[in-house]
Amino acid sequence: MPIIEPYRIKVVEPIPLTTREARERSLSRAGYNAFNLRADEVTIDLMSDSGTGAVSVAQESAAALGDESYAGARSFYRFHGVLSELTGFPHIFPAHQGRAAERILFGALLEPGQITLSNTHFDTTRANVELLRCEARDLPCPEAADLDSLDPFKGNIDLAELERTLTGPDGGRVGFVIMTITNNGGAGQPVSMANIEAAGALCRRHHVPFLLDAARFAENAWLVTQREPGYEHCSPTEVARKAFRLADGCVASLKKDGISPMGAFLAMNDPELASRCELILTATEGFRTYGGLAGHELDRLAQGLREVLEPDYLRSRAAAAAHLAQLANEAGVDVVQPPGIHALYVNAGRLLPHIPPGRFPGHALACQLYLEGGIRCVELGSLYLGTLDDDYELVTPAPYELVRLALPRRVYTQSHYEYVAETLATIAKNPERVPGYRMVETTPILRHFNSRMAPVQM
Ligand code: F0G
Repeated sequence: MPIIEPYRIKVVEPIPLTTREARERSLSRAGYNAFNLRADEVTIDLMSDSGTGAVSVAQESAAALGDESYAGARSFYRFHGVLSELTGFPHIFPAHQGRAAERILFGALLEPGQITLSNTHFDTTRANVELLRCEARDLPCPEAADLDSLDPFKGNIDLAELERTLTGPDGGRVGFVIMTITNNGGAGQPVSMANIEAAGALCRRHHVPFLLDAARFAENAWLVTQREPGYEHCSPTEVARKAFRLADGCVASLKKDGISPMGAFLAMNDPELASRCELILTATEGFRTYGGLAGHELDRLAQGLREVLEPDYLRSRAAAAAHLAQLANEAGVDVVQPPGIHALYVNAGRLLPHIPPGRFPGHALACQLYLEGGIRCVELGSLYLGTLDDDYELVTPAPYELVRLALPRRVYTQSHYEYVAETLATIAKNPERVPGYRMVETTPILRHFNSRMAPVQM
């Protein structure tokens, strides 16, 4: 029997169906940068799974009960109650989005010159570490380097390297270790409970705080129940509860697994750290019972946090990702294996071998998906991660040329994904026709948001 979505559609939003000529005009006006497109020029938007999910009737009715009292709102206690049961942390603060939670917690924990270690820091996580004049070091496990292998937990941290760093000359400078679950910067791959447990034990032995970046805690928990021996009979809620209890604190953007447009939280065990965070929170986000969020948003999140752990929901979401991955493979397009849940990472370097890294094959595929099908997605390759010289020519390429197709929660149906696969198949029939791109204009930081590009025939 096919795995079906455990919901039906009650409110719909039209999506624009555009012509090839209109898309050519739009992309040219946008400087061949999808961040400059207007949403009403996009047919299928796979740019991000963040804040883009569909809310449920239960979330909307919870939001109607939102209490907008300045302090001690009922909505806060409902939000706090759900998170307290889920995470077990005694100190929990709302924040308006993940990067604000990062800034507050890291600001309270780090001193300039310290090092943070992670399976992979997400870009805002890295930026918040670097803004505090600290160094963010990624220690992905060796299995992550093989994009095609079916190893179940390629999001893991390299435990041997973690131990070497903690016991080596830099050990005394490590400010914290943060595990990103699932590992968004590492092709959306999950982290095993064994890896979280072992990393946490190493941190405790070396008296280093052990944190989770738990933006996709429910999806990680689902993949643990599916892939990790010993967890096959656990519910995603049981796995998630256990994962949080292995850490000293966490940050989490709730724009993902809170299935809401906005929101985040930070939490910790240490009361002294909590009072430092509370001061920064009050000065920069809001009082401890709202942290930059409205009461109705807190209630929508509290309900979303319950729904996201329902096995039928997670099963159908994982099945949709696996189905799209399979259709892509059948069309001759490789995605990083095994498929995760929140996004598929297409191997653009392999699909477009005629485009050298310096002409940005990932960006070329992302542009082509828009031109062929009005599909919006972004590159994760040399445009994003490579180093460039003063003439914007590539000096050091990224290790892989990928494109991320992020899958918003409860938004697109199987026919939408079949359309995406068909568009990929059309491109894969004549890949040599896809042009490369050169950079025309950019900014010193946050290059991928701000570049203007131009096509170059190969
Ligand atoms: N951590 C992870 C793992 C993330 O994926 C994100 C955001 C953040 C932190 C920051 O949270 O956006 O609420 O401030 N990821 C989005 C994405 C933007 O498209 O992957 P935020």
